[in-house]
Amino acid sequence: MARSYPSIILSTLLLFLPLLTGVEAEAKKFPVVVSTWPFIEAVRAAWRAVDNGSSAVDAVVEGCSACEQLRCDGTVGPGGSPNEKGETMLDALVMDGVTMEVGAVAAMRYVKDGIRAARLVMKHSQHTLLAGEGASAFAISMGLPGPMNLSSPESVNKWSDWKENRCQPNFRKNVVPANDCGPYKPIDVSREVLTEYSCEMGTAEYRLPLVGPHSHDTISMAVIDKMGHIAVGTSTNGATFKIPGRVGDGPIAGSSAYADDEVGGCGATGDGDIMMRFLPCYQVVESMRQGMKPEKAAKDAVSRIARKFPDFVGAVVAVDKNGSHAGACHGWTFQYSVQSPDMDDVQVFTVLP
Ligand SMILES: *[C@@H]1O[C@H](CO)[C@@H](O)[C@H](O)[C@H]1NC(C)=O
Ligand SMILES: *[C@@H]1O[C@H](CO)[C@@H](O)[C@H](O)[C@H]1NC(C)=O
Ligand SMILES: *[C@@H]1O[C@H](CO)[C@@H](O)[C@H](O)[C@H]1NC(C)=O
Repeated sequence: MARSYPSIILSTLLLFLPLLTGVEAEAKKFPVVVSTWPFIEAVRAAWRAVDNGSSAVDAVVEGCSACEQLRCDGTVGPGGSPNEKGETMLDALVMDGVTMEVGAVAAMRYVKDGIRAARLVMKHSQHTLLAGEGASAFAISMGLPGPMNLSSPESVNKWSDWKENRCQPNFRKNVVPANDCGPYKPIDVSREVLTEYSCEMGTAEYRLPLVGPHSHDTISMAVIDKMGHIAVGTSTNGATFKIPGRVGDGPIAGSSAYADDEVGGCGATGDGDIMMRFLPCYQVVESMRQGMKPEKAAKDAVSRIARKFPDFVGAVVAVDKNGSHAGACHGWTFQYSVQSPDMDDVQVFTVLP
């Protein structure tokens, strides 16, 4: 009798061991942090928050906020991407995949905390998107620091070099003067020449300084928290030398990011003016809902854009509700970063076009 207790315990343990490890494996899928580009510190910041029990929404905000403070690539946060007038403006979005709530700010000046402003819109208003001066005023009234100057010596220098270079390159088309600073006037073009990205517009010289390997342009992040809830967020200061008033894909739900707890999430980066016409992240999530794996869903969303705009530059990263992830890109090599319980630190994945 005395001997049978340990053996009962042992056999009971052996019986339940596969079950226990099975349960453990399930639990260890989460949390997961996925971000566009090797924005390592941003992923670490989100990971620290979510690993310590933060909600997916709060972890996304911590992650994107870290990128804003570090001014990732000069294209996130204050001090980068001067527009035609030399000003920096921010676009940001956060989306809660549990409630499908979205908060976003667009063309926001005077406030450096884009993603925090987006969360304030989500949490303290019934709106989805605030733009321009109104977004700044709302963010400041809800407690964010400001008004402040978002220019930096770098952005000011970049802008003066551009002015000296006769405001080239820029985003104007079918205007006079064609190769100089404004004021601009529209020119009458016949329908035949009125195609997007004519040869002249599509040259590398025209496009490279605007969106290229050195202007990754957006952090778009997805987090699955310990409860398995998913949230996404983006932050960017937009396209360099954009026309004042331009809003890109960053604050557009379904374009730069999208999340639904039932399915998964998605982040996008690249030529936002083109990409926002296709809502690629909405497409990715809906394709996964229909049963596509993340890789196929990502490739499909990118190829839909490439069919119509063969010269576009962009990428998406998809993550399903189980934490499986994949990226797809067009026109450039894409990298995205992941941290999950099976990794000691952030891992960077490279996706070839
Ligand atoms: C983790 O969460 C606890 C409780 O919310 C908090 O007191 C602590 O400061 C957090 N630690 C970090 C590193 O964020
Ligand atoms: C904003 O900051 C830039 C760069 O430091 C500086 O050149 C500019 O004069 C500042 N603008 C104002 C209105 O203070
Ligand atoms: C997620 O994991 C569960 C359990 O392992 C599995 O049944 C399900 O098919 C997976 N879902 C996806 C979308 O891969």
